[in-house]
Amino acid sequence: LFSMDGDVADVEALSRLARASDAALLLDEAHAVGVWGPEGRGVAALAGVVPDVLVGTCGKALGSFGAFVGASAAITELLWTRARSLVFSTGLPPAVSAATRAAIEIVRGTDGDALRSYLARNIRILRGRPLSLGGAKESAIAPLMVGDDRKVMAMTASLLEPSPNSGWRYFVQGIRPPTVPEGGARLRVSLSARHSLDSVGELSFRLQALAET
Ligand SMILES: Cc1ncc(COP(=O)(O)O)c(C=O)c1O
Repeated sequence: LFSMDGDVADVEALSRLARASDAALLLDEAHAVGVWGPEGRGVAALAGVVPDVLVGTCGKALGSFGAFVGASAAITELLWTRARSLVFSTGLPPAVSAATRAAIEIVRGTDGDALRSYLARNIRILRGRPLSLGGAKESAIAPLMVGDDRKVMAMTASLLEPSPNSGWRYFVQGIRPPTVPEGGARLRVSLSARHSLDSVGELSFRLQALAET
């Protein structure tokens, strides 16, 4: 699940290609872990693909810090002994690891299923509006393409102003080059399970009004 476009790689095709080419498949599931697939295990798990290397972060849906690599014993052994960025880093504080473990328990259980269904509901509401949002229809990352760098930052600032009815303010990050290609400035809408129905509905109206100006 790509961070800026909200689109999803065809991991089955990539897996077939990797097998046919005698290559390893490495997937970065930073944005999918916790929110995508069975038990929030990611895009590959949903597609029934087992990559040779799966990297993910504990700092997004898991709400903690740090990251992980899932791979065979041979690959992880190689990383333990040769990956300089790992070998010369201080290990994570135990409290951070404990927070990650607690988050994984939530994510894999029925609470996780409930949170994923709230998120799916929020995504359906936002994507059901007549707004031209990019990305996969199931993606919580929903970019609204703007193009102009200044205009996009003005839109971010305007969404931070309180709404006349609710008083709510919306933080929708404007993304400019070099994070995205020249001319690709966008509002990066990112939904969570904790956003209320009313706020997602109101945000969609505010986005629509901005898109029309
Ligand atoms: C695709 C992708 N992978 C990995 C990361 C790294 O995440 P972190 O530094 O939170 O572990 C990011 C951060 O935005 C990301 O977008």
